Amino acid sequence: MDGNGRWAKKRLLPRFIGHQKGLNAVKRVVSHCASIGVESLTLFAFSTENWRRPEEEVSKLMSLFLKALQREVSKLDENNVRLQIIGDRSAFSEEIQSNIALAESKTSSNSGLVLNIAANYGGRWDIVEAVKKWQKAHPENSIEQLDEYALNDYLCLAGLPEPDLLIRTGGEQRISNFLIWQMAYTEFYFSDVLWPDFDEAALDKAIQSFSMRQRRFGKTGEQITAC
Ligand code: IPE
Ligand code: MG
Repeated sequence: MDGNGRWAKKRLLPRFIGHQKGLNAVKRVVSHCASIGVESLTLFAFSTENWRRPEEEVSKLMSLFLKALQREVSKLDENNVRLQIIGDRSAFSEEIQSNIALAESKTSSNSGLVLNIAANYGGRWDIVEAVKKWQKAHPENSIEQLDEYALNDYLCLAGLPEPDLLIRTGGEQRISNFLIWQMAYTEFYFSDVLWPDFDEAALDKAIQSFSMRQRRFGKTGEQITAC
């Protein structure tokens, strides 16, 4: 979700207002995904690198995160959304951590959209953690027994399908340490729309583009059209 700061700057507003408007875009996109039957949506809210931002911006982002956890979870629950926070939550305040736990347990039995919020998340961190968890779960195994399939069960999105589509807004064309393992065969879609302006129509456009792609997973185009 990129472009909050630029959205605000264009209007001579503080960056934080861009983040607030970005939260509105999150609400729009989540409810649209729930209503069109998306199975799983992962939003990159805060990366392991975002701590490097000015202290004031980080602290305002943390307040916004807390407020969203406190105010938006009932609505998610009503919409049958299961919320999961992925990332290293130990760096967050006690208050945020307890609100995360509350939000996850409140929505844990919901069967609709799985909404993963990546917060203090990094793809490299996810892979290293998965290796550690695998080793802890199988102390008798040698590292030689570790393979791609075994590791899958210990990554943050274990049990969920690999993402079909990545949307990056704000005109950047980078993965920025997002779900680097899980996106081996994801289709990428880059949009110049700044995140606060991203809406239902912009999402439909991305899905439309995705639906025109031929996914070959290493095979030839002829093999795919033959089946
Ligand atoms: C993304 O918007 C939001 C977060 C990282 C929390 P940016 O803050 O990166 O917006 P730009 O790139 O400065 O426009
Ligand atoms: Mg940015």
